[in-house]
Amino acid sequence: MRPSTTGSLLLLRIVLLYSAAVVVSQPANAASTSSTLDPKQVRALQSLYIPTTHDPCTQPSFHNATVCDNGTPFRHLLSLRLSNCSEDLSLSTTALSSLSTLTSLSFVDCHVPIVHFPTSLSINLLSFTSINSLQRLTGVFLSRFSNLTELDISGDSIKASGIHIITSNMKSLNTLTLSNTNLTGLIPKHWYPKLSHMDLSENKLNGTIPTSLTLLENLRFLNLSSNQLTGEIPSTIGDLISLQNLSLSSNSLSGSIPGSISTISRLVHLDLGSNQLNGTIPRSINEMKGLKYLNLENNNFHGVMPFNASFIKKLTVFKINGNDNLCYNHSSISKKAKLGIAPCDKHGLPILPPPAADEPSSSVDDLSSGDYDDGGDSGKKKKGDDSDHGPNKVVLGVAIGLSAVVFLIIFLIILSKCGGRCCGCC
Ligand SMILES: *[C@@H]1O[C@H](CO)[C@@H](O)[C@H](O)[C@H]1NC(C)=O
Ligand SMILES: *[C@@H]1O[C@H](CO)[C@@H](O)[C@H](O)[C@H]1NC(C)=O
Ligand SMILES: *[C@@H]1O[C@H](CO)[C@@H](O)[C@H](O)[C@H]1NC(C)=O
Ligand SMILES: *[C@@H]1O[C@H](CO)[C@@H](O)[C@H](O)[C@H]1NC(C)=O
Ligand SMILES: *[C@@H]1O[C@H](CO)[C@@H](O)[C@H](O)[C@H]1NC(C)=O
Ligand SMILES: *[C@@H]1O[C@H](CO)[C@@H](O)[C@H](O)[C@H]1NC(C)=O
Ligand SMILES: *[C@@H]1O[C@H](CO)[C@@H](O)[C@H](O)[C@H]1NC(C)=O
Ligand SMILES: *[C@@H]1O[C@H](CO)[C@@H](O)[C@H](O)[C@H]1NC(C)=O
Ligand SMILES: *[C@@H]1O[C@H](CO)[C@@H](O)[C@H](O)[C@H]1NC(C)=O
Ligand SMILES: *[C@@H]1O[C@H](CO)[C@@H](O)[C@H](O)[C@H]1NC(C)=O
Repeated sequence: MRPSTTGSLLLLRIVLLYSAAVVVSQPANAASTSSTLDPKQVRALQSLYIPTTHDPCTQPSFHNATVCDNGTPFRHLLSLRLSNCSEDLSLSTTALSSLSTLTSLSFVDCHVPIVHFPTSLSINLLSFTSINSLQRLTGVFLSRFSNLTELDISGDSIKASGIHIITSNMKSLNTLTLSNTNLTGLIPKHWYPKLSHMDLSENKLNGTIPTSLTLLENLRFLNLSSNQLTGEIPSTIGDLISLQNLSLSSNSLSGSIPGSISTISRLVHLDLGSNQLNGTIPRSINEMKGLKYLNLENNNFHGVMPFNASFIKKLTVFKINGNDNLCYNHSSISKKAKLGIAPCDKHGLPILPPPAADEPSSSVDDLSSGDYDDGGDSGKKKKGDDSDHGPNKVVLGVAIGLSAVVFLIIFLIILSKCGGRCCGCC
């Protein structure tokens, strides 16, 4: 998922070209008619070890590390991406001041301590990314990027008393990723309505999921997995009409799954695994036609699992194991389907003992592999039953046939004896 490899060649080129770049410190194409990068920005790039022997605007180094506007007399940088940086790189406020025209700035595998960002750069930025990069990030530092539409911090610790410190002024925020950043505190109640992507996974957030989150009509992606969230899933979760991917896994959520979840018609990915959810699984989930990924493992659900074989076969991933009081109806699902839960008795309770834990989780591949009959439609199901009983019927048929032959022979013998001796009828 992460664009992780862009840096390797870049860095090699940076290292190889750096000395040359220092020598040729004037813009290379000064004589040409088309405009070139502002010399101030050329010097700033050099201080960041970005090669400038060729005009970085016309020959952007590896993978668009630099993108420029078409200004005259000089062009200016719009986007800069530093990846896999060398150990001795350091940021300077002077260089950053020269780069205030940037609207997009990314650091990927670039371990440098932050320095003060000039206000002109902070408010010009629309996109800011730090993946396994900036050290000593704070909430206050990030909050100054007030015009951001996209913020992605992953794998870097952020010191802040809560997420609201960072986002409370970012009115235009569209995509927010704060993942594996050691953030603590609560999920903010207030969000601006443009938000369509929220990934707060792998932090130390606690408290409940605020009901106000379900007002975000544009939210397509929500990942709150691997935090310490408690309480129930808001019953209004179905109001998130744009939602496609939802993960609340690996928290301490309790209560039951709100039935309204099945009204989210575009949902393709639903991961509620490893919580303390209970109650029965809403039958209405069966009607979610677009669902491809469904994980309900390691919870406390009880009763009869409402999914039949044709529903499960349409999923690419289905996990339900680790629910000790949940069972499946073996007249609609093959016993060979290794779901990791027990079949039900006629009262809808798990038949004990639970199945051997040979497969900790089942995948749909297990289901559709050769040892599973086609399931789904009842015609095929009956056929399966017939062939199951086949061997018994053959034995029965042979037995009946044999006894008929024996009776026939006895009858013929009696008949022939009678024919000779007039057999008492005479
Ligand atoms: C980063 O650069 C170093 C050279 O300094 C190289 O050995 C390494 O493979 C690069 N890593 C990535 C992920 O590009
Ligand atoms: C580089 O940027 C241009 C313009 O923004 C874009 O069209 C192109 O696809 C980008 N190339 C890569 C490799 O990202
Ligand atoms: C950026 O934010 C400032 C205030 O923080 C505002 O005055 C300015 O118009 C915004 N610029 C853009 C491009 O949104
Ligand atoms: C989060 O904190 C733990 C312990 O304080 C530390 O080991 C870990 O590296 C931190 N994570 C990040 C992404 O900095
Ligand atoms: C959340 O964790 C903090 C410590 O990080 C604690 O002080 C606070 O009481 C917790 N809040 C809830 C609602 O659990
Ligand atoms: C949610 O985040 C976790 C941890 O970062 C990741 O493993 C998982 O794939 C994400 N879920 C979705 C739906 O992207
Ligand atoms: C959403 O979920 C689908 C199905 O699991 C997956 O293929 C897709 O990559 C996910 N989208 C994102 C942005 O993670
Ligand atoms: C589910 O758990 C909640 C608290 O976690 C409890 O109040 C409720 O009675 C449980 N419901 C069932 C059906 O077990
Ligand atoms: C299992 O399914 C069959 C046929 O669909 C139904 O008659 C039976 O009541 C179900 N058993 C349970 C325990 O739900
Ligand atoms: C399985 O469930 C789906 C959705 O509820 C339903 O349309 C279908 O008829 C069911 N199939 C069988 C064989 O019961």
